Amino acid sequence: MPMTQVPEAKAASPIGRNTPRVDGPLKVTGLAQYASDFHFPGMLYAVPVEATIANGRVVKLDVAAAEKMPGVRAIFYRENIGKIFRSVLGPGFEGVVDERRPPFEDDVVRYYGQYIALAVADTFEAAKAAADAVRATYQREKPNVATELKADDEPEVVPTTFDMRERLQSERGDAEAAFASAPVKVDQTYVTPAETHNPIELHATTALWDDSTTMGARTDSRTSDAPTLTLYEASQAVFNLQGVLAQMFGLPKENVRVITKFLGSGFGGKLWPWTHCSLAAAAARQLGKPVKLVVSRKMMFQTVGHRPRTQQRVRLGATDDGKLVSIQHDYVHHKAVLDHYHEDCGEATAFLYSVPNLRVTFGRAKRNVGSPTPMRGPGAVPGLYAIESAMNELADQVKIDPVQLRVLNEPKIDESLGIPFSSRHLLECFKLGTEKFGWSKRSPDVGSMRRDGLTLGWGMAGCTWAAARFPAEASVQLRDDGTARVACGTQDIGTGTYTILAQLVSQKTGVPLAKVEVVLGDTSLPAGPISGGSMATGSVVPAVFAAADNAIASLRTIATTTPGSPFEKRKPEELLLEGGRVFVKEEGADKSVPFADLLRRANLRLVTGSGESEATFGNPKPKFSTHSFGCHFVEVTWQAEIARLRVSRVVSVIDAGRILNPLAGRNQIEGAVVMGIGMALFEHTHYDPQSGAPINSNLADYIVAVNADVPPIEVHFLDYPDTEINELGARGIGEIGLAGMAAAITSAVHHATGVRVRELPVKIEDLLA
Ligand code: MOS
Repeated sequence: MPMTQVPEAKAASPIGRNTPRVDGPLKVTGLAQYASDFHFPGMLYAVPVEATIANGRVVKLDVAAAEKMPGVRAIFYRENIGKIFRSVLGPGFEGVVDERRPPFEDDVVRYYGQYIALAVADTFEAAKAAADAVRATYQREKPNVATELKADDEPEVVPTTFDMRERLQSERGDAEAAFASAPVKVDQTYVTPAETHNPIELHATTALWDDSTTMGARTDSRTSDAPTLTLYEASQAVFNLQGVLAQMFGLPKENVRVITKFLGSGFGGKLWPWTHCSLAAAAARQLGKPVKLVVSRKMMFQTVGHRPRTQQRVRLGATDDGKLVSIQHDYVHHKAVLDHYHEDCGEATAFLYSVPNLRVTFGRAKRNVGSPTPMRGPGAVPGLYAIESAMNELADQVKIDPVQLRVLNEPKIDESLGIPFSSRHLLECFKLGTEKFGWSKRSPDVGSMRRDGLTLGWGMAGCTWAAARFPAEASVQLRDDGTARVACGTQDIGTGTYTILAQLVSQKTGVPLAKVEVVLGDTSLPAGPISGGSMATGSVVPAVFAAADNAIASLRTIATTTPGSPFEKRKPEELLLEGGRVFVKEEGADKSVPFADLLRRANLRLVTGSGESEATFGNPKPKFSTHSFGCHFVEVTWQAEIARLRVSRVVSVIDAGRILNPLAGRNQIEGAVVMGIGMALFEHTHYDPQSGAPINSNLADYIVAVNADVPPIEVHFLDYPDTEINELGARGIGEIGLAGMAAAITSAVHHATGVRVRELPVKIEDLLA
């Protein structure tokens, strides 16, 4: 077959191409610097002292022995840490903190591992020894970490960043009456345990005050005599952290700089500031030296958030032929004593299926645990485990194929908001998924499928995740050596943001990927979005494109105004930049000139363009309902003789708009599927009822899915651009792959074993029953 001639610039478009990480070489050679990799002269090490009770009061702290230990600079506690103020929520992502109480504010201990003192020493080892030598005397109360959840907290939503009250408790029709009269009913309660984020990179802070070397010009432009604070932090949201620290230390915001060059992942645990950040900063202030604090793996289970335990009653009413008439989703999740994190389990319930009568309610139960926080797919992931499990149970009751049941209940519009979906191709996901998996060969009877002496279970579930844009700013430079630079203060949390920005700039300017410098993760850069909600990519597209357009506009003006330029007699709007070369639109690319030549002729090192884009997230009156969709098909093998359960095959189909980098995109879905296997079969943070401690607080006892647990995973993207989100039509893909996975696995487990597990994770004991 003859090769089709494709115009060069088009052929070279990096959008939609498998693009290896541009930061990959830095990572594999160890040059990429993570928060704990920064070292400064005179730097000290801090190790927190953890409360060994979960409820009560510190009545005495004996620090005398610790203070005298070699290399120890100070032991800090309430009386000598200095002032740490509270921070207050502002508009957007401003002042967001899950644990609102600053460390050491009072003597009350509300959860196990709460920091009660801080040892600072010349070395990490000396600080650790000193922290261990601090003796605390407590007045103990019995902790409440009970797993049975009953709402005991005000159902009123406390002020959150975006007012989501209406969405949290949706209601339409008369769900109770419709359920009561429905010929087919499912009424089950599903439980998900507390789960702990375990990114391999530990939380870490390195804090410096009045550091002229890192503050650079920023020091000169500060607006008051207040000191400056620089923090190297493992953060998914440097600008929010900047604002929070400014409030906590009473500083003008511009006197605080937060830097996160690389992140060893976060999964949501690093979205909002935790108490170690302000403790490290306070210690550095008191001692006049840089202080580094690295949270231990054990502390990761105590003080830096987790996914809360949820208990969700789902009632589905349906006709005999499987048409939903009523959905009731009433959930309770646990919360910390003082804090108000909300796990929005009903996130997807109100729009996923067509149903005239619906009610979503929630409650919260106070427990002596550290504050929960978003964890990959917060709300929707536990919520869809419950809803999709109930749908699978309904399918069995009405003897309709679970895929067909969902097709029957596919809505035409978002019935919760009464508006159309911007782009919903869930039915096509089902079609492709059934084909790729070979679903038509499924025989529905429990235990009826076998292969190589193993019982097979086949299960499936749908998934969805919100899509929107956060506000974003970026700048793009074109330089006289033919390179480009793009700067944005968002972070790359391991998902590929460096690469996406390089692709975007390359697309607009024709500068090859290798010649695009990407600068991220610093509050001194244009304000970028948080790396959360799977929304960073979708958010930066319009800002980066606008910045590139503005840089190109400046270049056109220069090309037409520089004496001796080949385009001197032309108007700027007659010129095009393609493949890194400028030419007159009408004359075509034959007489093109590299943009670097034009800059050099004008004696310019560079031209810069700035761009910004507004949020769509939180829009109270959207015209379209914007979400990603998808489905998972799962095969498990069950070996009853030795009670061995394995996930043996997964096919996931994802409708997440245009996929800018399929290589990185697949990687996101695969990672989420692996996490889904962990959620379904292994992950569970256990709180000891006596001490209140998360007792499996290490990677030996907190089980996550490892290579041996991971089967072949097939990922397919539909690739329909959703231009409501941005002109490329890219939504996000970080979280959706985890949604629905646990329900798909438990339905496969039921198909193989006949056991319905409604409390995660699935345990061998459940299957022996
Ligand atoms: Mo994600 S839980 O918004 O980092």
